[in-house]
Amino acid sequence: MTSRRQFIKAAGVLGGMTAIPSLGLGNISRQNTASDLKAATTDDELFKLVRQQLLIPEDRLYLNTGSLGPSPRSVIDAVSAAMKQLETNPVAENWGPLGNQMEEVRKKVADFIHADVDEVLITRNTTEGLNLIGQSLKLNAGDEILTTTDEHGGGEVGLEFLVQTRGAVIRKLEMPIPSQSPEEVVQTIGKNITLKTKYLMLSHINTSTGMVMPFAEISRITQAKGIFLVADGAQAPGLIPINVKNLGVDAYAASGHKWMLGPKETGFLYLRKGFQPQVQPVFSSSGFGTYSKSSGTRNVATIIGLGSAIDWLNQIGMEKIEKRTIEIRNYCMTELKKLHGLKIISPDAQALSCGIVSFSPEKTKNKNIYLALKEKDIIVKVLTKHNGIRISCHLFVSKADIDRFITALSPLL
Ligand SMILES: Cc1ncc(COP(=O)(O)O)c(C=O)c1O
Repeated sequence: MTSRRQFIKAAGVLGGMTAIPSLGLGNISRQNTASDLKAATTDDELFKLVRQQLLIPEDRLYLNTGSLGPSPRSVIDAVSAAMKQLETNPVAENWGPLGNQMEEVRKKVADFIHADVDEVLITRNTTEGLNLIGQSLKLNAGDEILTTTDEHGGGEVGLEFLVQTRGAVIRKLEMPIPSQSPEEVVQTIGKNITLKTKYLMLSHINTSTGMVMPFAEISRITQAKGIFLVADGAQAPGLIPINVKNLGVDAYAASGHKWMLGPKETGFLYLRKGFQPQVQPVFSSSGFGTYSKSSGTRNVATIIGLGSAIDWLNQIGMEKIEKRTIEIRNYCMTELKKLHGLKIISPDAQALSCGIVSFSPEKTKNKNIYLALKEKDIIVKVLTKHNGIRISCHLFVSKADIDRFITALSPLL
């Protein structure tokens, strides 16, 4: 049973106390809130303040935001405050002040991705968004779905459902790894489109390699041929600025709990107005409102937390975040290239790059490297393909962190 003493200590985590070893949190200084970011006079100071806002202990090196991102304190506080407020008068709050705040988050998401509010659904994650499309897209038997061999299972499951229920056919393209240029990528996709191709589903940022798909160029082809273009955006928002109109996509599904650093089980789905008649999941049948007859009761606290994460990202600015993450990624890439016994599988071309670097160790199992790094409290992602390891360089990762990672990695190869 939790003792009163432990409870007070646990409460202190959210109350801004420091050094709470009994919770296994190490030496954490977390006095900062979102407004403290304003105190930073240089970018370096800003990134340090950002790091201090995370509950990740100072001595843990977290390089796996691509799986789940650590929420900054202001987001955790927003969730916690909303949860507590809800419990003071559940019905009145849920369909009153908190419900209104939750609905405002749709507008924040819409602005964040340059969409209209009636094109945005709040979901639980990317997989849910893509499944909503898979369950209701109007395809006919024999219609071809084009995708790549290197998609995430969360994106593929909706496609497989279309095969089972509509008789559609999937064709998976093998993309060069690493891809050399946007032109090469666009050509590979363009020349594989046939008269039967009705639906093209691609990751905006590839989960294995971190390659940024040149959607704007691809959408010129799909729009001319009347092909539905859908983005699996799990890895992109919070890492690079998103403008769904410029990307030219019909739909864009994403998660709030990765690079956006939002609460876990948050996400969104963009459905372009003109595409909406093609895809009408029950989930949206009574409107796109965050709470509706067809969505039922929602988790107001986490959805409000997603809004808080967007406020936090906007306060820093997505351009600054993209610049910083690319800088750290480039540094990581340069240092990895000095090592022997690995193959970098992320693209070199800047136009295809973002704050993700992946590599395949040549003589060792990726799992063994992961375990050895974990011993040193360095957390990386083991990829299910390519015997790969993925490094996520969000804005709280410093060059010194990359040095620590490289030093630990070098003898393992
Ligand atoms: C490209 C891609 N799509 C989908 C997913 C699934 O995300 P979620 O579990 O948030 O639905 C991931 C998760 O890593 C991903 O990288």
